[in-house]
Amino acid sequence: MTINYLGHSCFILEINGTKILLDPFITPNPLAKTKAEDIACDIMLISHGHEDHVADAVSIAKRTQCEVITNFEIGNWLNSQGIEKVVGMNHGGNYNFAQGTIKMVNAVHSSSLPDGRYAGNPAGFIIKTEALNVYFAGDTALMMDMKLFGEYENIDLSLLPIGDLFTMGIDDALKAAEMLQCKKVIGMHYDTFAPIEINKDEAKKKFADKGYELNLLEIGINTEY
Ligand code: NI
Ligand code: MN
Repeated sequence: MTINYLGHSCFILEINGTKILLDPFITPNPLAKTKAEDIACDIMLISHGHEDHVADAVSIAKRTQCEVITNFEIGNWLNSQGIEKVVGMNHGGNYNFAQGTIKMVNAVHSSSLPDGRYAGNPAGFIIKTEALNVYFAGDTALMMDMKLFGEYENIDLSLLPIGDLFTMGIDDALKAAEMLQCKKVIGMHYDTFAPIEINKDEAKKKFADKGYELNLLEIGINTEY
């Protein structure tokens, strides 16, 4: 699996030529290295309705004609803006695609769309492929569900928010990794804005001291997992 970090909680996961775009937030991101109009994807996942997760969703979905996987309420919002290839699922459900399955799971957070419209409940996704099982937590607090995912879902790699204030911070993310039984973590939702700036060396050391690996990817660079 190739992972390209686009900044904040936005990634492209590429599996056997299929590109999955997570939580598109590029145009308003001061740290972005790419332009939304240059992004190609086959599938888009949206975890919740906040601006910093949906900013470029409509424009990218319109241009690429990708399949958008999100919850029912955000799916309706996309439909109302002319996006038709939407799978509006809900927590606990699985969606099958050519390279595996995508399960929608809980996240402890809030959710509304940029226009104030109700966005249903926030989510994370467990993406299971032949190569790797990846947990994309979305925006969330530490929660006991992570222990269940660890016991039940065989997670190889976790994409966890670490910026604090709006989501988990470093200490809770490390506890999450333990509960997920997942040694390898990619940090997200940090450094984009002043209130979520972190000390990267200190964060990595906290993980390393407990035998875990915190990867803080450079924006715009492909990494193989
Ligand atoms: Ni949020
Ligand atoms: Mn957010």
